[in-house]
Amino acid sequence: MTPLFLTFEGPEGAGKSTQVQRLTSRLAALGRPHLVTREPGGTGLGARVRGVLLDPALDIDPLPEFLLYSASRAQLVREVIRPALGRGEVVVCDRYADSSRAYQGAGRGLDASFLEAVTREATGGLAPDLTVLLDLDPAAGLARAASRGQPDRLERADLAFHARVRKGFLALAAREPGRFLVLDATRDPGALEETVWAAVGERLGA
Ligand code: TYD
Repeated sequence: MTPLFLTFEGPEGAGKSTQVQRLTSRLAALGRPHLVTREPGGTGLGARVRGVLLDPALDIDPLPEFLLYSASRAQLVREVIRPALGRGEVVVCDRYADSSRAYQGAGRGLDASFLEAVTREATGGLAPDLTVLLDLDPAAGLARAASRGQPDRLERADLAFHARVRKGFLALAAREPGRFLVLDATRDPGALEETVWAAVGERLGA
């Protein structure tokens, strides 16, 4: 079976996890071997690093922030994603390198070529076959996220930061229209699920 690497991206509160779950149910119904994971996290190391990255009590500078996300990513690619793709599975990842490009690049202002160089090492050059970008106004997203509980370290960043992140995501999608599927996150979850499934189905058949 042909492996497929799918990622979901977008701001806080865009409904990524809902869509990841819905896609997973569809893959399961089809009997297609698949693996679901997320960033930061997905490994023992990633889970620890995630705790550090989201801790609202910590002040973390943009460079170490990016390096920590990259550390989690490097471990996840080696320990989980590559092996699953090697077995021919469909890998669905909730956030991946585009989040670093948007949050640490566009949002925090880290140099893009430095970011790409580290990302190349961390991922071994592994890029998704399809990236679903759930686009949403940052104010609406933060409100949705806030209704779920205490804001984490990133959710506490100001609206201007989150606006740069959104623009960053959209710029990435414009640069690689073949890889990105950009969807309006305010649409009905069922309708979004259908659109995602159509795009995934196309690639599964290929
Ligand atoms: P998470 O709770 O997974 O957020 P969400 O449910 O919105 O996906 O927390 C991940 C946070 O880390 C989120 O605010 C985005 C941020 N992030 C980065 O800043 N850079 C990255 O490379 C990644 C993967 C995530």
